Amino acid sequence: MGLVTGVCLAKMGHGVICYDIDQNKIEQLNSGHVPFFEPKIEELVKKYLQEERITFASDILLATEKVDIIFIAVGTPQKENGEANLFYIENVAKEIGRHLSQYTVIVNKSTVPVGTGMLIKNIVTSESNIEFDIVSNPEFLREGNAVNDFLNPERIIIGSDSQKASSIINELYQDFACPIINTSLETAEMIKYASNAFLATKISFINEIANICERVGADIDDVSHAMGLDSRIGNKFLQAGIGYGGSCFPKDVKALNSIALSHDYDFELLRSVIKVNNNQRTFLIEKIKTLLVDLKGKRICIWGIAFKPDTDDIRESAAIDIIQLLHNSQTIINAYDPQVNYAHLENHEKIIGEINLFSDKYEALENCDALVLTTEWEEFKNPDFEIIRQKLVNPVIIDGRNIYSPSEMKQLGFRYISVGRKEV
Ligand code: UGA
Repeated sequence: MGLVTGVCLAKMGHGVICYDIDQNKIEQLNSGHVPFFEPKIEELVKKYLQEERITFASDILLATEKVDIIFIAVGTPQKENGEANLFYIENVAKEIGRHLSQYTVIVNKSTVPVGTGMLIKNIVTSESNIEFDIVSNPEFLREGNAVNDFLNPERIIIGSDSQKASSIINELYQDFACPIINTSLETAEMIKYASNAFLATKISFINEIANICERVGADIDDVSHAMGLDSRIGNKFLQAGIGYGGSCFPKDVKALNSIALSHDYDFELLRSVIKVNNNQRTFLIEKIKTLLVDLKGKRICIWGIAFKPDTDDIRESAAIDIIQLLHNSQTIINAYDPQVNYAHLENHEKIIGEINLFSDKYEALENCDALVLTTEWEEFKNPDFEIIRQKLVNPVIIDGRNIYSPSEMKQLGFRYISVGRKEV
């Protein structure tokens, strides 16, 4: 999010310094290399480096002296109890406080519990006598579409208790045509959590409807299409599957639940959203079991490891959970993902030694008892089904993202199970 914000602000004509404590990352960026996969970003980094509109630095002085605005875009990972961990926010606030040299607007873009803006203010005040103001400006970009989302926002939220800071940030975004909502720090922080939690709720809701569709013989795709035509419901985030993952929804939903609990409020609905999401993974395993009877010793091919297409991010990926569950049942796993390789799995000690990663999606199918589709990458949508049938021991496909048509699968002679649709 920090890098996307940086390059997009450069594109808007501003001078940008991107600061990180990780020197290795800074060196890579300075040589024009982006250390993760995200469409469009690398070409923009190269362009603005060349035009000297963007600089990458691991020297805090460069990032704080003589700047008008500082954006905080550090991670707020999840603690074991579900709360957001503010360690990085607190550290960066201290560092900023120690190095302020002139009036600066400090804008927080990280997703943080309500009240964190005031916490940042207190930390900076305890370190500095220089005048500054705090703004909360949550970001709504999606991985895989981050640059487009930043440059074409549907709304911009500016939360602050300072008129001066609000007008500086309003001016920064003045070229955007979307509504700009000026509000308090606390309200801005809540808007971000409420938005992510609502989208996660939509996903869990449609997944439960899908589970009922399977039992009553209805078709979830037709149901969600028809529901989505009602503009009060809207057609987005109604895709049934194996549940949401990624670095945001799972963490933010749990964090909002913790915020509610810490204020003596039981957010019952949200607790169910989390439970339904976890169940969706287990249900897929049950489906695989009904087809293959005993998973022990069977070989299964997984297509897709990233938490969604167009990213190499595997944080809280449903595919990783599925692999883990299959591995627990002593299944042998072949896997393929267009962007994820062994290096991405380094932190998953439990998994890395247990899966055979392939660099070709068809080779990964060799001698497998079934194909399980877990991420809906574009290249999986129109595969050569003849090759799939030849390579698989049995013509069995379990589709966790509903990308194939059941009637076509029937015609092609596959045993096909998806989510919320008739088994063929
Ligand atoms: C999400 C939000 O969509 C962004 O607005 C927000 O800025 C971001 O979190 C964040 O807080 O930083 P992101 O995590 O990149 O963005 O991905 P999404 O496209 O929202 O997908 C999240 C998960 O939901 C994925 O695992 C996806 O497969 C799943 N999903 C999405 C469904 O299962 N069904 C759907 O209909 C839509």
